[in-house]
Amino acid sequence: MTEKFRSPKGTRDILPDETLRWQELERILHEVMPRYGYGEIRTPVFETTRLFSRGVGEETDIVSKEMYSWVDQGGDALTLRPELTAPVVRAFIQHNLGAANPLTKVYYCGPLFRRERPQKGRFRQFHQLGVEAFGSEYPELDAEIIALAWTLFQELGLRSMTVKLNSIGSGESRDAFRRALKSFLEPHLNNLSDVSRHRFTTNPLRILDTKVPHEIEILRNAPRITDYLDPDDQEHFDRVQALLDALDIPYQLEPNLVRGLDYYTRTTFEITSDSLGSQDALCGGGRYDGLVETLGGKATPGIGFAAGIERLLMAIAAESPVDETDELDVYIVSLGESAIREAQVLAQSLRRQELSVGTDFLRRSLKAQLREANRLHARQAVVLGENEIQSGKALLKDLTTGEQTEVPLADLPGVLTA
Ligand code: HAM
Repeated sequence: MTEKFRSPKGTRDILPDETLRWQELERILHEVMPRYGYGEIRTPVFETTRLFSRGVGEETDIVSKEMYSWVDQGGDALTLRPELTAPVVRAFIQHNLGAANPLTKVYYCGPLFRRERPQKGRFRQFHQLGVEAFGSEYPELDAEIIALAWTLFQELGLRSMTVKLNSIGSGESRDAFRRALKSFLEPHLNNLSDVSRHRFTTNPLRILDTKVPHEIEILRNAPRITDYLDPDDQEHFDRVQALLDALDIPYQLEPNLVRGLDYYTRTTFEITSDSLGSQDALCGGGRYDGLVETLGGKATPGIGFAAGIERLLMAIAAESPVDETDELDVYIVSLGESAIREAQVLAQSLRRQELSVGTDFLRRSLKAQLREANRLHARQAVVLGENEIQSGKALLKDLTTGEQTEVPLADLPGVLTA
């Protein structure tokens, strides 16, 4: 039996009907980003493996379990990018972008790869749009970035969204919290899952992310990171909230929002959709004031977010189900050899005039071709048969009104409209 091939687990084909929605999302993305001063950056789909182990963190799920990594024929250790913040920071340093511009703002849109367990809203190849901004440590940039995500999603048609906001502090305040959390958890160690017990030694803050019900119960009385913020971190966090209030952006404080990547400092946030199931995070982001230095650049503060495009499209479809139909300006019906030739020449000149044109390639009957014109949602049909070629006049049919007129062949390009 011949082998039947299917796309690999966790990947999907995006077929033409669906691509229309992707194109519309991308159109809005490219329109909104320049309004906020962001220029597009495109980085390679694979990078040096060390960029992610150092940038995202050896102990994160992404690096320890989910990367597609390999050693190529030349002995280089490479990885399909599982996220885009580390690659953008790499490019920022490599091209010294901060020298030309003290505040660098870039956005991106492209495929990413994580070997996760596939489920609704979670894929092994997925797509993100996102932004990264470098050079300002001030809370006004945090507020602008959250406002940008909120506005972009609204312009995409989304309404039922929640902003979840937290500060995980920085440096000393986080160390103090980590110690407090560990002493709180210590007596409960025997009741924790293997994963959480492992995290207790490697990355205790991640235990706050747990989805295990009895662990959530234990954590109800755990210390809160926001009680450990030092005065500078607290002031930063207060300012972010005051600015969001001024911008009329509703948010919920979420003290357990620590996020799964190691580079965050101070502000972390997510925007969730009320129209999605368990994978409801449309985007996640936050500050990473130490990452540029960690990756070998001059100390520069940074902040950004990334949104899953598949999830945005699922939420848009859930909130405003529309029947996407692509229209055709003209369908040319051709009957007989010379009409086929004439149809091809006419189609070519109309397409140069930016009209969308369909023609028959199956030498079907008049009735079948008109049926095809309707199936393709053509607004007008031109009928060319041997008689029309001889008389030099075609039959023009308005498919919305049913009205028919005779038009000299030479006048068709002028009469037909988009
Ligand atoms: P992240 O939370 O790992 O953050 O991913 C951001 C978003 O990508 C998620 O909220 C979700 O919408 C989408 N996403 C993640 N994994 C999958 C998957 N397997 N299938 C479908 N969608 C997925 C980051 O990647 C950070 N780099 C964000 C950031 C930018 N932080 C600062 N700047």
